[in-house]
Amino acid sequence: MKISASFPFAPLTKLCALVAALAGIGWSPTVEADYHVIPLPLEMKLSDEAPFELTPRTSISYPADNAPMQRNAEFLSEYIAQATGYALQTLPADKAPKKGIVLALDPAITQPEGYRMEVNSGGVKLSGSTPQGVFHALQPLRKSIPATATDTHILLPAVTIEDAPRFAYRGMHLDVCRHFFPIEFVKRYIDLLALHQMNTFHWHLTDDQGWRIESKRFPRLNEISSMRQRTVVGKAHSGEYDEPPYGGYYTQEQLRDVVEYAAQRYITVIPEVDLPGHMLAALAAYPELGCTGGPYEVCPDWGIFPDVLCIGNEQTFAFLEGVMDEVMDIFPSHYIHIGGDEAPRTRWHDCPKCQARIRTEHLQSDGKHSAEDRLQTYCMARVERYLNEHGRDIIGWDEILEGDVAPNATIMSWRGMQGGIKAARLGHDVIMTPTSYCYLDYYQSEDRDKEPLAIGGFVPVEKVYSLEPVPTELTSEEARHILGAQCNLWTEYIATTEHVEYMVLPRMAALSEVQWMQPEAKDYDSFLQRLPRLAEFYRRDGDNYAKHVLVEEK
Ligand code: ACM
Ligand code: ZN
Repeated sequence: MKISASFPFAPLTKLCALVAALAGIGWSPTVEADYHVIPLPLEMKLSDEAPFELTPRTSISYPADNAPMQRNAEFLSEYIAQATGYALQTLPADKAPKKGIVLALDPAITQPEGYRMEVNSGGVKLSGSTPQGVFHALQPLRKSIPATATDTHILLPAVTIEDAPRFAYRGMHLDVCRHFFPIEFVKRYIDLLALHQMNTFHWHLTDDQGWRIESKRFPRLNEISSMRQRTVVGKAHSGEYDEPPYGGYYTQEQLRDVVEYAAQRYITVIPEVDLPGHMLAALAAYPELGCTGGPYEVCPDWGIFPDVLCIGNEQTFAFLEGVMDEVMDIFPSHYIHIGGDEAPRTRWHDCPKCQARIRTEHLQSDGKHSAEDRLQTYCMARVERYLNEHGRDIIGWDEILEGDVAPNATIMSWRGMQGGIKAARLGHDVIMTPTSYCYLDYYQSEDRDKEPLAIGGFVPVEKVYSLEPVPTELTSEEARHILGAQCNLWTEYIATTEHVEYMVLPRMAALSEVQWMQPEAKDYDSFLQRLPRLAEFYRRDGDNYAKHVLVEEK
């Protein structure tokens, strides 16, 4: 950190008197801001003009009677307080002094998430065409200030920054089923998304090992499905189990609170109810929804299990529609993620009800797909239709391309890029999240003995950084279907919040440059040089980040 005095050229003879006078008026040392943050802004024009000096007396103004812009001002005041220890006054523009930080709306800025930041000795102006754009301007400004600049004045060099994200979908995922994390931590995770200028939180809320959404309609989901009676020890299928019951669920009030918390930070929460596989927790409570009728156990192990929802049973759809009614009521997101991954067909093959459905719906095998594959399509399309009728669209994992794709589905391509390529060519929107770049449950070092137990794989920071979400095989027309990219954190082997942090930080920083920056501007060496300043924020905020690429810290 560069520390200098505000008045470095005072003649020596007068220095003592000056220092005494300055001490009397609360003189502080200054530090200089550095706009080379993560993700790096698109265009930055530094000038030789005098900088702006941010002091405890600097005010932040917002357009009068604009609540979201007022909240932006309050966020900025809070962010600056976290670094400096002093909170800046926020006030409407008509009451603000001329010199200071001004938050403004400017309809001429074309991208809704784009912003402009102008700094000169007279002040700082952060503009966007929407409050969301202005929120994105707050992030580089706060990251340009050293994370711990306690009681210092900040010299903000004169600059004009014009910036906008490359992708409209910039996501992070968190599985709270295999391990369950407190609501306060979920909020902290959302704070991390905001810091990294992401806009979507994909919340994986139901799976074999636990159902985490309170249901008023199906109370056994809370009584039974939210708790597993035992949990496998060590690797999956080790045969050894911990006995204490494990689980929990979020109340609807808590879920709504998270949605609101995220919305204030311009982050959309997309809930995932994974179907028709990964449903053992629900089946344990409602065994009549499975092909065999059970009994079933909230799953104590990790993996893929043959017992899935029975597609031949109308009760299954009454259940799914009832669940979706509650989910839509809690989550206003345009997209609802309905999973579709890893649903074995074995039970359907042997189930009279499922086979009857295959006959009545005339589902047929061809050389590529079995009738049971088409049964999955039938299920996904039926749930999709229900959600479409309520104004929502679905996201599904790339398995939903097997058979016929549900008509309006957005595909999350996880088993590589191929699913995404196929979907884009079929005219479907795509989110890229291929395992080999985006699975943060994979090891981040080859020195596995020094790492906590992980599911396998190897995704170092540099690999995440190297992701190019738009495959060169696509035409420019097809490429428009690539909405963005996301990293996923599955938590079979991640039981604590500290471990979650260790797995996502700083790989999430690498992802943020993939999501935000234009590909030609990305540079891994430059990223590594800028990372220590961001890591100061992680450290200050008590996050347990991995240090593999932060050489001097190892
Ligand atoms: C997945 O990782 N099963 C989508
Ligand atoms: Zn069945």
